[in-house]
Amino acid sequence: MPGEVSHKEAGRVARAHRPDHWNVDALPWDSLELERIADNEVFFFLISTASFVEITTDLYTSNLTAHYAGDDEVTVWLHEHWQPEELQHGAALKRYVKTVWPSFDWDLAYQNFYQEYGRLCNAAQLEATRSQEMVARCIVETGTASYYTMVRDASPEPLLQKIAHHIRTDEVGHYKYFFRYFRKYARQESVSRRAIFKALWTRIREIDNEDGLIAYKHAFQVRHPDQAFDPQRYEQFRLNLNRMTRDHFPFEMAVRMCLRPMDLPHPVERLSIPILVAGARRFL
Ligand SMILES: [Fe+2]
Ligand SMILES: [Fe+2]
Repeated sequence: MPGEVSHKEAGRVARAHRPDHWNVDALPWDSLELERIADNEVFFFLISTASFVEITTDLYTSNLTAHYAGDDEVTVWLHEHWQPEELQHGAALKRYVKTVWPSFDWDLAYQNFYQEYGRLCNAAQLEATRSQEMVARCIVETGTASYYTMVRDASPEPLLQKIAHHIRTDEVGHYKYFFRYFRKYARQESVSRRAIFKALWTRIREIDNEDGLIAYKHAFQVRHPDQAFDPQRYEQFRLNLNRMTRDHFPFEMAVRMCLRPMDLPHPVERLSIPILVAGARRFL
């Protein structure tokens, strides 16, 4: 099962390709200030659910590799850089959760999550063309880069700030690669702005999809086995997040990253950004 990948293995692969890259063992685990975060239920769910999704990246890699079969530049990068880095994100967050909340049975919760989530991760979720899928990938990386920026800036605990900073930097790097590959395919497929917008909008709408609910549900059921789960709990969790989102979510960065594939004329982009930032604040 993908969740069983050890952080040593993920780190070994990631380091082999980027020797200067951070790794899980080299993080200053001794500096963890447990009392700053152990009682924080919101951070427990933010970090445990993120660890589940990150560590399941393998499921998506094979779908993506098949979509770009024959393009060695893309498939080699996916296998040798993107996937090991995503797995390392999962491994770092998993270790953080196990260290801060040792009574939480991470492995059991992940196993339950994987059984349900794995069924949803199939090739049918990919966009029809290669350029449109690259747009979708840019939006996903925008989402993760923004998420970890928020976690870094809102975290009450310094080691988590450090981990979130490393992950955020990687996610921005992933965006840059996917954006470069998007440009390559957009030229080859002469894709219209309308088609780009469609892929972009589909992915933005999915930000509110069921992945988060599934991850939350399985974390909740193992964390609170004596309480019944109902989706209202997830809604309440999201409401509890509102203040953190308002204060720490990098709205402008997210909007700029989402707009980039549209290649809008500069004056249009300049006018759109404040309007979309205001809209995004309401949306989230
Ligand atoms: Fe990641
Ligand atoms: Fe990423």
